[in-house]
Amino acid sequence: MGQYLPEKINVKGESFRIYLTQEEIQQRIKQIGKQLSTKFQDKRPIFIGVLNGSYIFLADLMRYVNIPCEVDFMKLSSYGDEKVSSGQVHDLKQIDADIQDRHVIIVEDIVDTGLSMKYLVEKLKQHQPASLTVVTLLHKAESTQHDVQIDFTAFKIPNLFVLGYGLDFAQEGRNLGQIYIQTAGEDS
Ligand code: IMP
Repeated sequence: MGQYLPEKINVKGESFRIYLTQEEIQQRIKQIGKQLSTKFQDKRPIFIGVLNGSYIFLADLMRYVNIPCEVDFMKLSSYGDEKVSSGQVHDLKQIDADIQDRHVIIVEDIVDTGLSMKYLVEKLKQHQPASLTVVTLLHKAESTQHDVQIDFTAFKIPNLFVLGYGLDFAQEGRNLGQIYIQTAGEDS
């Protein structure tokens, strides 16, 4: 049995179609992995994955990084089961590692309004890392309202809801092997 790659998908009454294929995603992540390997050569960076959405991206990205590195996780929640941000960020899990004087690479699934990333960067800066680099798989640039630092963006996307490849809609869809976009107003 192969991966879960339907052409179209319906989740909780909403329709989605393929937006980024497995091949497109892997090619782009490979490039970023290579750039990070060069940038952090001899620096033993620590990747901090933002749960839950980034777990698949992070797992693939780290396997394209060919230098010694570590990993830890944080968990934030701002969406609940809705498709729009609640406007509040909750801290659900802190990092365990001591990141003082370490080179930290934050790995996020998507930057939408930018609220979560702003919160995260400010929070991690308090630990006095040697450097802080932000990597996001997706960026909804049109909807970003907060002034956020993003160093590597795999894909800029329009302001529509997406799911798959780790991203969910009310906890569903994370197991899809590629990224799907809402067919708002399109014939589905
Ligand atoms: P922000 O704080 O508004 O930038 O939202 C960031 C978080 O909202 C991400 O980490 C995701 O968990 C979630 N999110 C934003 N847009 C989407 C989407 O289109 N699909 C799934 N989750 C999303």
